Amino acid sequence: MRNSLTEQLGIRYPIIQAPMAGGVTTSELVAAVSNAGGLGMIGAGYMTPQQTREQIRELKQLTVKSFGINLFVPNDFHHCEKEVKTAQALLKPFYKELGLEEKVFSLPTKEKTVATFKEQLQLIIEEQVPICSFTFGLPTVEQIKELKKNKITLIGTATTIEEAERNEAAGMDMVVMQGTEAGGHRGTFSHEAKDGYIGLMSLIPQAVDSVNIPVIAAGGIMDGRGVSAALCLGAYAVQMGTAFLTCVESGANQVHKEAILQASADDVVLTRAFSGKWARGIDNRFIAEMKGNEEQLPGFPIQNTLTKALRGAASSQGIPDFMSLWSGQSPMLAKMQTVHELIETICNETKIKLNIS
Ligand SMILES: Cc1cc2nc3c(=O)[nH]c(=O)nc-3n(C[C@H](O)[C@H](O)[C@H](O)COP(=O)(O)O)c2cc1C
Repeated sequence: MRNSLTEQLGIRYPIIQAPMAGGVTTSELVAAVSNAGGLGMIGAGYMTPQQTREQIRELKQLTVKSFGINLFVPNDFHHCEKEVKTAQALLKPFYKELGLEEKVFSLPTKEKTVATFKEQLQLIIEEQVPICSFTFGLPTVEQIKELKKNKITLIGTATTIEEAERNEAAGMDMVVMQGTEAGGHRGTFSHEAKDGYIGLMSLIPQAVDSVNIPVIAAGGIMDGRGVSAALCLGAYAVQMGTAFLTCVESGANQVHKEAILQASADDVVLTRAFSGKWARGIDNRFIAEMKGNEEQLPGFPIQNTLTKALRGAASSQGIPDFMSLWSGQSPMLAKMQTVHELIETICNETKIKLNIS
């Protein structure tokens, strides 16, 4: 299963654990993946620069193997008072039901998110993290140049062929093709969200024909059947989120893990009610009750900030109704197991399917 991508990333198997911002990718999870021969990835999208540095340093204590980190590329965003007030009014009954004072965190600004991103890039260079991936867009030409000068392998995210080409043109070394099946936020950055809902079976071969950089397949892959299918279609590796989320070492809330383990494929829906950006997760009361209004909510990261206290309280009280239960479209294939068991099983299944020893 080795190829030029596994060679470049310094890994044994073409299996990448998806970076999952928001507490899922604990150092234990990331290190376990890297130690088992895959690529562990820190999801640093919501972290402060200090938290980012701390986790990198913690990880260096837990593995000598290669690992990577993922950042959210800051997008342009604006909000108007009226829009925020409307969203707050819609959220009020949920806050009330949980007995919460509506805690308003100070709203993020473009300047602040850009400054945080720059600091994160700088410390990634200082800490010599060998691999850095991005979602929601592309870093600037200067930022890419600086990272490459420091020999960091760069991985972009695309949900359309045009986005894959833009990743290649910008100098990304590899590109994750995120199929519509994928759990969590859509990485779409150059289209309307709905234009980025292409299935992985269509996305992989067309991307492989369109770009010269290695393609990594993401979305709904949970076992050796998915991995071998992706490799047959021309992908060099897979990136799996949901399959690692239910692992013992993941930091996902137990209620989130249980919800995935009990879900059917048709329980998984797209929503922008939690964050203002379209994302895939398990349907619940919050999504259902916000449905008629989700188009008018403020964009990411404003809406994400407005729901933060609600999601936090629901998580700590173990109430799935108001939690963002991100999941890909294959929850019925999820298992509660260790990372070692997951990777070993997948590799054995893939070898049998592809008839390799
Ligand atoms: C809980 C969760 C959080 C995620 N967070 C991120 C993230 O921070 N950065 C990123 O590039 N992708 C993120 N993703 C998307 C994954 O990179 C990947 O596209 C997706 O997990 C693939 O689909 P699957 O979950 O069916 O394997 C997240 C996915 C999940 C399930």
